[in-house]
Amino acid sequence: MTQASSSTAAVALRIEVFTIFPVAVEGYADVSILRRARDAGLLDLRVHDLRQGADDPHRSVDDAPFGGGAGMVLAPVPLFAAVERVAAGASGLARPLFLLGPSGRPFDQRVAEELAARPDGFSLLCGRYEGVDQRVADHLVDGELSVGDYVLAGGELAALAVVEAVTRLVPGVLGNEASAGDESFSAGLLEYPQYTRPATFRGWDVPEVLRSGDHGRIARWRRAQSLARTLRRRPDLVEARGGLAPDEEELLVEEGEVELLRQHGYHW
Ligand code: ADE
Repeated sequence: MTQASSSTAAVALRIEVFTIFPVAVEGYADVSILRRARDAGLLDLRVHDLRQGADDPHRSVDDAPFGGGAGMVLAPVPLFAAVERVAAGASGLARPLFLLGPSGRPFDQRVAEELAARPDGFSLLCGRYEGVDQRVADHLVDGELSVGDYVLAGGELAALAVVEAVTRLVPGVLGNEASAGDESFSAGLLEYPQYTRPATFRGWDVPEVLRSGDHGRIARWRRAQSLARTLRRRPDLVEARGGLAPDEEELLVEEGEVELLRQHGYHW
């Protein structure tokens, strides 16, 4: 029996995506983990075409900006119409509805956890072109999300990043329940390095400790690797969790990372 079917009537996480490229979103959601989650009844992903909200023969969704300037702006009329049409349908709209765009709240693992825990799911509206009419942000959506400090041509990739990061947190979606808790960001740290066979590849050996069979030593080594890697690559993450605890500093000393500790202001 799978983990999904052994738990009592798992309810699918509902996510609605509004986009002018439904084929692109559906295409990605048709493979790998999203496909499996949908097949297992754990993800109820509904993709809506924003052009459904346009009533002119060209189904246009954009227009020139008031005040001039380059590019086109997604217009309020078709966007409100597309969303309200779904909201008025038999199963309504999963709220909150988030607009995807570079000015949104930074999407990170914590936000993914919050969204995965929403009992009624949520919806995503993909921005496009040079922007979205401000009245959509002010009066249609409940919030805005950004997947990083860079500008994509549209919100589709961002929406898929959100859908995938959230879906893999839904109980039963990952084959091994332990794996979501053990990875990067789950404890505010980056993940330790992983290895598989062969034990020696082109002269590069897998660390001896991982082949020792000593689970206590392996756990300590992994923790130390995780801490050292985070301190080295993302000191901001270590800062955000209030620095290193005394036993974490000691672990890093044991692993020969005194210099790293000193570089980051720890007194050893
Ligand atoms: N659309 C364009 N750029 C984006 C970003 N960084 N995050 C979310 N949506 C976007």
